[in-house]
Amino acid sequence: MPSALLYERLAERLRNQIQRGVLRAGERLPSLRRLGSEQRVSLATAVEAYMHLEREGLIEARPRSGYYVRSPAAPVPRGLATVRSSRTPQPIRNPALLGVLDVLGRKDVLPLHAATPSLALLPAAALVAATTRALRREPNAALGYAVPQGLAELRLHIARRYAQSGVYVDPDEVIITAGAMEAISLSLRTVTSPGDVVLLETPTYYGLLQAVAALGLRVIEVPNRAGLGIDAAQVVALFERHAVRAAVLVPNFNNPSGSLTGDADKRALVAACIAHDVVLIEDDLYGELGYSGERPAPLRRFAEGQAGRGGVITCSSFSKMLAPGLRVGWILGSRWTAELLRAKCFSTVATATLPQLAIADYLSRHDFDRALRRLRRELATNAQRYRAAIVRHWPDGTRVSEPAGGMALWLELPQPAQGQALFEAALAAGIGTLPGHLFSNRGDYEHHLRLSCGLPWSVEIEQALRRLGQLVHAQAA
Ligand SMILES: Cc1ncc(COP(=O)(O)O)c(C=O)c1O
Repeated sequence: MPSALLYERLAERLRNQIQRGVLRAGERLPSLRRLGSEQRVSLATAVEAYMHLEREGLIEARPRSGYYVRSPAAPVPRGLATVRSSRTPQPIRNPALLGVLDVLGRKDVLPLHAATPSLALLPAAALVAATTRALRREPNAALGYAVPQGLAELRLHIARRYAQSGVYVDPDEVIITAGAMEAISLSLRTVTSPGDVVLLETPTYYGLLQAVAALGLRVIEVPNRAGLGIDAAQVVALFERHAVRAAVLVPNFNNPSGSLTGDADKRALVAACIAHDVVLIEDDLYGELGYSGERPAPLRRFAEGQAGRGGVITCSSFSKMLAPGLRVGWILGSRWTAELLRAKCFSTVATATLPQLAIADYLSRHDFDRALRRLRRELATNAQRYRAAIVRHWPDGTRVSEPAGGMALWLELPQPAQGQALFEAALAAGIGTLPGHLFSNRGDYEHHLRLSCGLPWSVEIEQALRRLGQLVHAQAA
């Protein structure tokens, strides 16, 4: 591609971010070197793009300091898209799952089954204050319908977070949803028809399997390799053999494996989806929860400027970073935004207003990056301590994952110990766990178990892990 086009396209993306208010007046722009590496362009192209914007009066160079945004943002209002009818959902097919999910509501078990950080690790008090403030300050708005797309202020916050990591998102393509789960279901419903084939990882989050089953879709699975994530070559091999319509993947800290897929595989995955007209629905729920502190690239970064029927839709939520019960997530709809918005309108009209106002209020008053740094540190420490206790108390032959982020531990039990039997025995002992077979469509992982390490380390946790170890010893004997 000629470099003139490249710099113009880069300048266009930055201009858009400035005009939408994602990059604000007075804000410092990335250095030329950083811009070049984030956008995968040469230094000369980055220089050209900044000079172009400087000539337009949108940015200015300050000696020995860098480039800054000059003009104030002018948000562009946009009309509501027309709507279309939604499909009838089908019931969950896996009856075992319903039985297991009963655990979620139980208050009398230690929740090692729930992949959520404990409230002690989340800014709960600040969120309560933000909710009260939103209700007092704007009772009419807070108690009324939100617009289907979601509050503009919140969409702007989300676009700004992506801009911090060099992914330029138009706030108008952000749709606020009831958690990541609704984001993924709407995305699937928009890009597939019943009977289509969808690619998932194995193991993968059981909710994704259920979302696919509820839409009458068929599944093929590609392994998520321990510590390495998805192998793009294996995905390509599947694309060559099957007419796959969509892929729902969790490259950043898969649940349950905690693995991170590398950039080379991510780039190849996106390229393969474009080449085979597959829509890649990326579930980036844990993207900001890597233990190294470095935010791994969303797949979206590798899809800039791609055309065709394939491409990337990004789904995520505040569930694991702020509070799961607020049920606020989002979709970056890319070229499917108008269709996704129609689907959203007929799904829930709009996401609940009060949690949206509360989160927008929280994000504008608090240092979210600082809260996330603390959360990541705590989760990394928890993972280390839980693993050490498992090594100490569980029988030889137990294998435990080494997650790079998130809050799930994936365990392989020494045979003949079974995940389902252990789940039941643990429940009787007041400890919640999840059996491995939930994490695959084929009922694999009979000898696996998932534990959450979202609860801070305590004597109670140590005792629970020791008790679980005794149960595994008894079963494996
Ligand atoms: C990989 C993955 N995707 C989606 C979800 C659902 O997220 P939400 O609570 O935001 O709907 C979860 C919940 O644990 C998950 O682990």
